[in-house]
Amino acid sequence: MIDPPVQVRTSTVQGKGVFATRALKKGDCILTIDDSHIVLDESSLTSEQHAFDLDYLEDRIVVMQAPEKYINHSCDPNVFVKSENGARKVYAMRDIPQGEEIAYDYSINGDNDGMFECHCGSKHCRKIYQGNFFKLPKTLQRKYLPYLDDWFVKKHNFEIRELRGT
Ligand SMILES: C[S@@+](CC[C@H](N)C(=O)[O-])C[C@H]1O[C@@H](n2cnc3c(N)ncnc32)[C@H](O)[C@@H]1O
Ligand SMILES: [Zn+2]
Repeated sequence: MIDPPVQVRTSTVQGKGVFATRALKKGDCILTIDDSHIVLDESSLTSEQHAFDLDYLEDRIVVMQAPEKYINHSCDPNVFVKSENGARKVYAMRDIPQGEEIAYDYSINGDNDGMFECHCGSKHCRKIYQGNFFKLPKTLQRKYLPYLDDWFVKKHNFEIRELRGT
């Protein structure tokens, strides 16, 4: 996607965020994530990249690029990520009005031990974000099943089948 309908600006949630520049419809593809910056040697990165910019994806370590690197977490997300033909794409989970902040729930497809105090401000805020999908309440895990990416389902096949009851 050459010109995604988003803008990076200061967020009330934390630092910078990504905002819709026009109204988006549920199911719209908003942008394609640039996963081409794969890191083979982490020691070549700046300390800032070490702290914030890495995405641990399957067995790859990727340096995230703008605008997607500025997408904040929300406990009431409006987008999710799905891989298609080898590219990760960000889709609208629901209709998104112009000007609304784009946010996904980082715990979806999460299997890491990341943690921070959440300031998403949603009514459903869990207050402390933690990066392990399987530590979410079971009802939320089930709600998020349709939004899991294929690589995550494949990697955690046993747990996901148990969750689906299959
Ligand atoms: C990929 S960055 C998101 C962009 C970030 N706001 C920035 O300006 O660089 C991820 C970091 O943003 C912060 N963050 C994202 N969502 C947050 C939230 N809901 N509450 C508090 N901090 C959040 C956390 O520090 C997290 O490690
Ligand atoms: Zn929250």
